[in-house]
Amino acid sequence: MSDEVEKMSVVIETRNLKKKYQMGTLDVSALGGVNLRVEAGEFMSIMGPSGSGKTTLLNLIGALDKPTEGNVLIRGTDISRLNDDELAELRNREIGFVFQFFNLMARMSALQNVEMPMAFAGVSKDERERRAMKLLDEVGLGGRVNHRPTELSGGEQQRVAIARSLANDPSVALCDEPTGNVDSETGKEIIETLRRLNREQQRTFVIVTHDPLVAGSVDRIAHMQDGLIVREETIG
Ligand SMILES: Nc1ncnc2c1ncn2[C@@H]1O[C@H](COP(=O)(O)OP(=O)(O)OP(=O)(O)O)[C@@H](O)[C@H]1O
Ligand SMILES: [Mg+2]
Repeated sequence: MSDEVEKMSVVIETRNLKKKYQMGTLDVSALGGVNLRVEAGEFMSIMGPSGSGKTTLLNLIGALDKPTEGNVLIRGTDISRLNDDELAELRNREIGFVFQFFNLMARMSALQNVEMPMAFAGVSKDERERRAMKLLDEVGLGGRVNHRPTELSGGEQQRVAIARSLANDPSVALCDEPTGNVDSETGKEIIETLRRLNREQQRTFVIVTHDPLVAGSVDRIAHMQDGLIVREETIG
């Protein structure tokens, strides 16, 4: 594949994606038919009011949950065709996750946290240590590799989570409110880190956020309302 074709390749596509939650006798419609495409190398954001379906959409894209209707394609593969083992493998290798509350393993060091997805992927101890060190270095934590989460600041914990999300060189990293639990200065540094990884390594990021600072630094925003993408905005 030529570089140009590679750059334009679609990593995520959703087709008429719907999600209903059953609450007793009540049907709650969280997504009403979402069509979204994300191309390799994009740095884009999903914004919208609380309850508009952002997390639901991200969880469906990341195969953490299943749609009521419609399809999610990751690099052209319709993930509804995969069995549970194949889905687990896809989640581990193709998709990185960054959460608002970091979700690090409390008893493990920064290094061990970043190594974990590689251990699941069967990467040798030497190789995963080498790659985890490199990733932690790239997010500015080369001097904190043996610290546990409680020995790190919120911003540092989120950097560990970012390094972890990239451990298996995924097609896309999905970030749900990555700056939602840190102060604005730290949030700015986190966004700059994500942006740098996007620019220097052509990493693809989808960032769910309320943060105007994030919105100001992405290439594209998909605005959600009541379970639908109501507007797409290309910036710059
Ligand atoms: N497990 C669930 N069971 C029932 N309803 C749910 C469930 N998860 C989400 N919902 C409902 O689906 C809708 C969308 O929720 P979602 O968490 O995707 O919103 P969001 O845009 O991420 O909001 P926020 O900005 O507050 O995180 C909401 O009305 C919510 O109450
Ligand atoms: Mg949410």
